[in-house]
Amino acid sequence: MAKDPGRVLIFDTTLRDGEQSPGASLNLEEKLAIALQLARLGVDVIEAGFPFASQGDFAAVQRIAEQVGGGDGPIICGLARASRADIKAAAEAVNPAPRSRIHTFIATSDIHLEHKLRKSRSDVLEIVPEMVQYAKTFVNDVEFSCEDAGRSDPEFLYEVIELAISAGAGTINIPDTVGYTTPSEFGGLIAGINKNVPNINDAVLSVHGHNDLGLAVANFLEAVKNGARQLECTINGIGERAGNAALEELVMGLHVRRRYFNPFFGKDPESPTPLTAVRTEEITKTSRLVSNLTGMVVQPNKAIVGANAFAHESGIHQDGVLKNRLTYEIVDAQTVGLTDNRISLGKLSGRSAVRARLEELGYDLNRDDLNEAFARFKDLADRKRDITDRDLEAIVSEQVQQPEARFQLKLVQVSCGSSLKPTATVTLLDHEGKEETAVCLGTGPVDAVCSALNSLADEPNELVEFSVKSVTEGIDAMGEVTIRLRRNGKLYSGHSADTDVVVAAAQAYVNALNRLVFADEKNSIHPQRDLVQSDTRPSI
Ligand code: KIV
Ligand code: ZN
Repeated sequence: MAKDPGRVLIFDTTLRDGEQSPGASLNLEEKLAIALQLARLGVDVIEAGFPFASQGDFAAVQRIAEQVGGGDGPIICGLARASRADIKAAAEAVNPAPRSRIHTFIATSDIHLEHKLRKSRSDVLEIVPEMVQYAKTFVNDVEFSCEDAGRSDPEFLYEVIELAISAGAGTINIPDTVGYTTPSEFGGLIAGINKNVPNINDAVLSVHGHNDLGLAVANFLEAVKNGARQLECTINGIGERAGNAALEELVMGLHVRRRYFNPFFGKDPESPTPLTAVRTEEITKTSRLVSNLTGMVVQPNKAIVGANAFAHESGIHQDGVLKNRLTYEIVDAQTVGLTDNRISLGKLSGRSAVRARLEELGYDLNRDDLNEAFARFKDLADRKRDITDRDLEAIVSEQVQQPEARFQLKLVQVSCGSSLKPTATVTLLDHEGKEETAVCLGTGPVDAVCSALNSLADEPNELVEFSVKSVTEGIDAMGEVTIRLRRNGKLYSGHSADTDVVVAAAQAYVNALNRLVFADEKNSIHPQRDLVQSDTRPSI
């Protein structure tokens, strides 16, 4: 049986596989903010990115390794294809972390070997030990993945895994790359590996899986029953195509059904010891941060973190819950950090009160960021009577979107109504300090604002998504706007919150435009679709 750490290790890949979601690209400050929150959440490993992809990706992994990996914080991991140049870049990027890992991979399914890599099985059997040994020259902790394991010949997998472990891999990851397997098949695959790989007890067995058939979490839980002890997952389940297994669902599944899962860890069913090290009270906050920064809106009926997950709409349910919560609730909302929006601050609150509350919420801002947050807070307090924790979170999460700004929104004004043609006046400041104003008509106020912004920015794009939701309840609540723009088949998102939804829409649009301009300048490699060709990392 594979090495058993006595619980499940949570390997978070929000910043790597999650960031591969269309439109979810993040800047360095945003990645750092998410990594710091993941550390607070208590994940065991953060896959911080694919350092060979570009100099920007390299820098982000390096910064996270410097700032997030300390103390008994998470292991910081960098992804690398099975090539020397990738492995070297990953090694350099994770080097500052006290505990670092290189995760290297190669495909093992015949379909990938023939059509993607154009390599034979025997090529793979040569490459794997060579690359694992090479990675071991930099770090002690090496993880090896057999990409598309879910569609690979199990007998061939056993051979590859045995070689990887002999070469020094301490974690063996089994990805269902295309989300093809069913729970019993995936569980069977893990059981087969445990049974047929002679040196399997020298490594931790890990799983990674996509949600193309909506089965990723179910597959993982079956894998846990069969000895998998590391789960590779993302916040809100974001990731390539239909996404990855959702961290919050896995953690809460193992938490709520502990009695069921305990025996698979050799424990008494009644053992109260948690099966993961995750601080579940941090789940909601982490989910919101990731959603705000990636622009990937969480569906209302999403398990654990959806807006309706703890809402009891129908009368019969409300009646039951009031009599006894357990009639319809299997998770206490507080367990995942969903507290009543505590009214914390108001117009007269000072800078130190705001800083103290932000610190309690986990935001340790530097002087400049705090000054900016306080100015935004004051501005909001002039328009909104009570400022809640969620309002503060919205203010801070918006700040980290700004650093790579090509355009800054200086002014937005609209006139609209039943007998008026919606008209918007917008002023933008560009990175050279030039201010320009445009006035446009539209079918509605938001359309008019977007047309005016487009005429100033001159960055062709197509608006493909516009969503508004309120941050809190009440007539003076802030509205959160998420916008997605498309250019050349790629998506770029922007997010903003304001008591005025038209202002929020304008700012979200500018944030998306900034991302679009920045990403267009960035030449980046995709770890799975691009083949290993060069030894030079693309520059920004
Ligand atoms: O889905 C996949 O196979 C991956 C690997 C790189 C682990 O993301
Ligand atoms: Zn993946």
